[in-house]
Amino acid sequence: MSGLRHVETDRLRAWLREVRTGETTAALMLAVAYDRGIGPRELASWYDRPVEAVEETLDSLDSPAYVAEIARLEGVDMEAVAAESNLAIESVERWFAELADRPVAEAANVIRGYAEGGVEPLVTGDASTVFHLDYDAMTERGWSLDDPDLFEKAAESDIGLPEYGRFLVEPDESILEAAERGGRSWPYACRGGACSNCAVIVVDGDVAMPGQSILSDEQIRETNARLSCVGVPVTAEVRIVTGVGDLAEFADLRLPSPASDRGGAGSVSD
Ligand code: FES
Repeated sequence: MSGLRHVETDRLRAWLREVRTGETTAALMLAVAYDRGIGPRELASWYDRPVEAVEETLDSLDSPAYVAEIARLEGVDMEAVAAESNLAIESVERWFAELADRPVAEAANVIRGYAEGGVEPLVTGDASTVFHLDYDAMTERGWSLDDPDLFEKAAESDIGLPEYGRFLVEPDESILEAAERGGRSWPYACRGGACSNCAVIVVDGDVAMPGQSILSDEQIRETNARLSCVGVPVTAEVRIVTGVGDLAEFADLRLPSPASDRGGAGSVSD
């Protein structure tokens, strides 16, 4: 039985007015025709392509992640954006997929920027909320990074600043800059992605690190570590554990610090 299940055909029609490449246009038209009851075999003959290719196109467009597929068809190099942002490819695909929540013209404009403007790190263009919890405060209470409700526990506990709190990160700020603007004093040394002093562990959400040069792909993957001085949120909310720069995993990457390296006296919560 034909008919799109995950995407409204009106939405695809709106995208038809915005896309630039013939490949995207053909894919969208194919999906719209399918929604009107034209089966894959007939579409294959209309568009002179194998039935399998038609089915593949329908699968990728009739999906909650259809905007990521449109971005690919429009020429966005997801792998290159992932490398530039120091993010997993899945995070980049998810970020483009979530453009589906924005008006089509606005989402198309973002995609055009990445397709035509060369490879850039991901930026949200929106402020993000960062929730932070200090590593020592976490372990002192017997909690761990693996606790699925770690931040719920922190919210219900008596921990406050500087160990636990939240703040807003504006689109043009790194997490460290926003933390300092909010009165926090977090460890750092180089402020340029070349040591581990400002490292944090991302527990929820995601953070890009344009320009970082010290953490290996393996360290990023295995620990989900990010460097807060170059870290920019790519999700609306991010939960991070701070004060992990002197853990054994990162000890060899530390530099002498011009700032107090543990905690500091943060004083403001947004
Ligand atoms: S302070 Fe050196 S990487 Fe952030």
